[in-house]
Amino acid sequence: MAQALPKPALRPFLPADVPILAAIFAASIEELTGDDYNEAQQQAWMEAAESEEFGKRLGADLTLVATLEGSPVGFASLHGADHIRMLYVHPAVSGQGIATMLVDALEKLAGGRGTEKLTVDASDTAQGFFAKRGYVAMQRNSITVNDEWLANTTMQKTLGTGPASGALQ
Ligand SMILES: CC(C)(COP(=O)(O)OP(=O)(O)OC[C@H]1O[C@@H](n2cnc3c(N)ncnc32)[C@H](O)[C@@H]1OP(=O)(O)O)[C@@H](O)C(=O)NCCC(=O)NCCS
Repeated sequence: MAQALPKPALRPFLPADVPILAAIFAASIEELTGDDYNEAQQQAWMEAAESEEFGKRLGADLTLVATLEGSPVGFASLHGADHIRMLYVHPAVSGQGIATMLVDALEKLAGGRGTEKLTVDASDTAQGFFAKRGYVAMQRNSITVNDEWLANTTMQKTLGTGPASGALQ
């Protein structure tokens, strides 16, 4: 008999989530960004989760965790009032709307606080995802991460424009 697929849910970040979110971060970079970044770049990017700063940033930002049957499968964070700092989804569940749910929620929370424009420094892998949601490329950046140069693109969305499902599940 066919079983209903488990529904993803969202909850706030807890300090105890750091190890599993670090593992999701590394797995998503390793398996999802290979068309856009070379191995040395991916390695340097993944190593960012090994520093204490990783957990500190998640705790300091407004971080949401997406779960499937209670287990974390993705996360996103809002830095300050208007900047999406992190968005990572485990490769085993990519393409199932998890990032959409996370970013819908961050946009709603930011909008509810009076933020008019949200920005993100989107990886080349995520640029298409954000463009689809109405984020517009503003500027190309080159950043150094653990001695490797990585490119990303600052994108901006005026809240209330562009597609968003709007449903918090
Ligand atoms: C980018 C990322 C977060 C997307 O997560 P996801 O849960 O697979 O995304 P969703 O399933 O919510 O995708 C929603 C829509 O965006 C599209 N989309 C997702 N990734 C995309 C991409 N790389 N390029 C273009 N479109 C993309 C999907 O096809 C889907 O479109 P649809 O609604 O028409 O089917 C995920 O691929 C990831 O973790 N990447 C590696 C880490 C990374 O680069 N993070 C961003 C740092 S800024």
